[in-house]
Amino acid sequence: MSGKPAFQRILLKLSGEALMGQLNFGISPDVTSFLAHEIKGVIESGVQVALVVGGGNIFRGEGLARAGMDRVTGDHMGMLATVINGLALQDAIERVGVPVRVQSALRINEVCEDYIRRKAVRHLEKGRVVIFSAGTGNPFFTTDSAAALRAIEINADLMLKATKVDGIYTADPKKHADARRYEELTYDEALSKRLGVMDQTAMVLCRDHGVRLCVYDMDRPGALQAIIGGDLSIGTRVHT
Ligand code: GTP
Repeated sequence: MSGKPAFQRILLKLSGEALMGQLNFGISPDVTSFLAHEIKGVIESGVQVALVVGGGNIFRGEGLARAGMDRVTGDHMGMLATVINGLALQDAIERVGVPVRVQSALRINEVCEDYIRRKAVRHLEKGRVVIFSAGTGNPFFTTDSAAALRAIEINADLMLKATKVDGIYTADPKKHADARRYEELTYDEALSKRLGVMDQTAMVLCRDHGVRLCVYDMDRPGALQAIIGGDLSIGTRVHT
């Protein structure tokens, strides 16, 4: 990457489904390895990287509740799924030579550290990737809300939401050929147009705390580095 990165500390939100790749369930080693290399590039350019990972590739509380399970139990299973994903990412990122610490919002000390904000910030300052797992530690909150919360807590300069589409569109680009990508939007516009970027709790948290968000296509090699370098031609920026 040429020049100085435009951001110093980022929080990258990865959905659980993103880790499946071509699989129907679970974790694709190809995807975790690809992500590890992308993240390594960013770390090497001197940017601090925190991750929040979802769990939908394993369990999703809402889906389990629809099938009849108690919602809180389902959400606990979903939160544990995010810890599993966090460990898989930790392994993949460490294998490319970048130190990682996984923290969990649910206490599970034998497996990983507890979420302690000040410790997480120290890890970031030391060039370690910090993976925040177990969501917010509470049922009924999405991992997008957890990402918004952690981005605010660690004073991230930019939150990135990795998706399968290269930004936010006026309509579903797979169904509407004339759908147009927004280069930028305010949270209020995204909320009033019901663009479905994230759930409303996450959007309002970001809006009220001035979090800068970029929605981008995680499958595009080099996209993360380009965005961090200040390239505005990729993804959609959302701001207050
Ligand atoms: P420094 O304070 O900068 O040295 O950070 P550090 O993370 O290297 O030091 P620490 O002694 O806290 O941790 C050493 C190792 O133990 C790291 O791999 C941590 O992730 C891990 N570790 C720390 N606390 C816990 C915990 O509560 N549970 C688990 N499972 N591992 C932990």
